[in-house]
Amino acid sequence: MKIGGKLYAGKAKSVYETDDHDKLILKFRDDTSAFDGEKIEQLARKGEVNNKFNAFIMTQLEQVGIPTHFESLYSDTESLVKRLDMIPVECVVRNISAGSLCQRLGVAEGQDLKPPIFEFFLKNDPLHDPMINEYHILSFSWATKAEIEKMKELTFKVNQVLKNLFANAGLLLVDHKLEFGRCNGEIILGDEFTPDGCRLWDAGTREKLDKDRFRQGLGGVVAAYEEVAKRLGILI
Ligand code: TMP
Ligand code: ASP
Repeated sequence: MKIGGKLYAGKAKSVYETDDHDKLILKFRDDTSAFDGEKIEQLARKGEVNNKFNAFIMTQLEQVGIPTHFESLYSDTESLVKRLDMIPVECVVRNISAGSLCQRLGVAEGQDLKPPIFEFFLKNDPLHDPMINEYHILSFSWATKAEIEKMKELTFKVNQVLKNLFANAGLLLVDHKLEFGRCNGEIILGDEFTPDGCRLWDAGTREKLDKDRFRQGLGGVVAAYEEVAKRLGILI
């Protein structure tokens, strides 16, 4: 497999063509962004930790029948993935109140949400990823009714699987964001699953071990990601 030209550079990852039209290389960079790209810093080792973290989670999800774009690790900071036609919406599930939910509704952080709350956001940094609902997605043809149902079904399944996986490592999965794409008529999990796109708290102390450390200037960002990776057996 040979790497070709750069197709796209996001805030924390870059995507490259390969000599196989259907496969891409995802490079996890050390760049860390928050507030839709307003705050950006380089954090040593983050690209490598997130690449390995994502590979582990995607493999776990494949094993329980969730289709993902992940194919294999390519290097310490790169993975080989399937080329998807990405759907421009973000699927968020919340098990415990935090983040924008608390700001938007004025509710306290840390409340158990039963049932979990599902939200769609439009992937659009200049507009700060506004919250949308199924009518927006249908009216603007971002996805079909069947695709919306599939994204919701898969997101709740991922939530169930990963809530248990993290619980076994003494962690609470507070919330997380997924992105999906199309490949040969199928809806497939794309993008990444890393502590950049979810909230993870220590189950005992409720210490934050995710990107909120960066957003809130708490420090120890990569050390926290490594702690989570060690508890899951990804790093030694
Ligand atoms: P929020 O509280 O900012 O709405 O985020 C909810 C979860 O989804 C949190 O774990 C962060 C993640 N998320 C992203 O990673 N990127 C995004 O653009 C959005 C809207 C959420
Ligand atoms: N993922 C978005 C960004 O990097 C939002 C956030 O994480 O705060 O800017």
